[in-house]
Amino acid sequence: MTAKQRNFIGFLFFSLSVLPCRVEAQQFAPPIMGWSSWNTFHVNISDSLIRTQADAMVRLGLKDVGYTHINIDDGFFGWRDASGEMHPHPQRFPNGLKVVADYIHSKGLMAGIYSDAGANTCGSKYDADDHGFGAGLYGHEEQDARLYFRDWGFDFIKIDYCGAGTWLDLEEQKRYTAVCEAIKKEAGHPVSINICRWAFPGVWAKNIATSWRISRDILPNWSSIKYIIEKNMYLSAFAGDGHYNDMDMLEIGRGLKPSEEEVHVGMWCMMSSPMLIGCDLNKLNESSLALLKNRELLAINQDRLGLQAYVALRQGPGYVFVKDIKERRGLTRAVALYNPADTALSFEVPLSELELAGKAKAKDVISHAEVKIETVKSPAMNGNVLKATVPAHGIKVMTIEAKQRIAPTRYEAEWAYLPAYNDLGKRKLPVGFTKVKGSSGGICVSNVGGDMDNTLVWKHVWSEQGGTYKLRIRYVDAQRLTMKVMVNGKEAYALQTSQQAIAKNQIDFKEAAFEINLKPGDNEVKLYSPLTLIPAVDCLYVDKTVTGK
Ligand code: GLA
Repeated sequence: MTAKQRNFIGFLFFSLSVLPCRVEAQQFAPPIMGWSSWNTFHVNISDSLIRTQADAMVRLGLKDVGYTHINIDDGFFGWRDASGEMHPHPQRFPNGLKVVADYIHSKGLMAGIYSDAGANTCGSKYDADDHGFGAGLYGHEEQDARLYFRDWGFDFIKIDYCGAGTWLDLEEQKRYTAVCEAIKKEAGHPVSINICRWAFPGVWAKNIATSWRISRDILPNWSSIKYIIEKNMYLSAFAGDGHYNDMDMLEIGRGLKPSEEEVHVGMWCMMSSPMLIGCDLNKLNESSLALLKNRELLAINQDRLGLQAYVALRQGPGYVFVKDIKERRGLTRAVALYNPADTALSFEVPLSELELAGKAKAKDVISHAEVKIETVKSPAMNGNVLKATVPAHGIKVMTIEAKQRIAPTRYEAEWAYLPAYNDLGKRKLPVGFTKVKGSSGGICVSNVGGDMDNTLVWKHVWSEQGGTYKLRIRYVDAQRLTMKVMVNGKEAYALQTSQQAIAKNQIDFKEAAFEINLKPGDNEVKLYSPLTLIPAVDCLYVDKTVTGK
């Protein structure tokens, strides 16, 4: 079979294997699902190990539910010859890598490989793998791309940053762009690229890669799972259109408690993260395997809209995540009640907070039980309310179908798109998600402004029929600043904050209110200031004016 034929079959298989069976065509490639060698085996990998994992993937029925990738992580490198050509590790892969990729493909699976944007691999630094020195892509971009993709036939690559950061001090965007261009030029077929810079690298990643890591390496313990979920909590606006925030390889089957495993898979699905199993597949127990194969849960990860859930609201230490599935602004939404605390937590979530109304049905996709929705009539809460108790370190993932979809009246700043945001810690005044007491959702976005590339944009301010609306922006008034508002590309409002100095520890929330005309459907509201920072922003309220023109 030629590489071209194989790629076509791979693509066909990829499209057909995504869950569930759909009538509508897949709009974007969903997050990749599969297995990766790193978490359990580190650099101690071999030809036979990779083959046994590919066999297990098929035998255990994981392939049937959508796990299509077998990814070889760090550890396969041997040496470069005089022409710079990379040779695989002579003991670990005595017959080379092409035969291994061919074997993976022969099972109807896709093959992934690993490298570094710099000269040396992370394994050379942290796993005493001397073969990793000089093994990275630095100075060999096109040569390695030809070898890995054209000659050996790999379909995916994860590109690490140890060599590029530590030894060479390269600039991320420039370096990854150059590497990705070389791959696109030389690969000869589409390659899925993962940027591994261990922090949200910046919005540019979406233009060149399929996914990008947003956190330090995952570990098989609860605090690591909790930390990664926190890292990804406010990044939903940066994913989409077939490009995903990568929460790292799964630690299922590696010692987490059952409820923690549910959180792990549940949140990776809600957040549309790549799903790469990281354990020895031959040692998976029944319940972990069943969780990994839960079709309803995986359908949330592989949903055709490819959206990442956002925090709709917080209840005590708990979080309510939500996202559209199947159809944008449709009647079915995926919802997760996440309890990171060490004791059980009872949630009471008004359906209106999930933009749903009328008769509704909630189904727990892990226990398959129906979740209670009660009609409450009290001054504090009126309407249908979702009620559930979630155990410590636990989650309830549901699909909720309601009779009616309602328009949001509040948009949190932490849902917005921030073109200047990155988590590399290099900016003097980093644009960031700051915990502010008294703010709705507990978070404000700070340090936006100063130039036209550093703005805050709500791209999906919804109006069913269009008309006149009162917009209110809630912000923290702390010093004399300016803030301008653009609605659908036109300047709509400008404000000079009044406060010059406030008492220590005092937070002075203010609202800027103005009337505006919104068009039917999505509207864009942008906050900016070309010369100064804008104040820290809490949220935007959007109310239809009764007396609308
Ligand atoms: C880094 C990555 C890991 C893994 C190792 C390999 O630490 O973040 O996921 O690929 O390198 O050395």
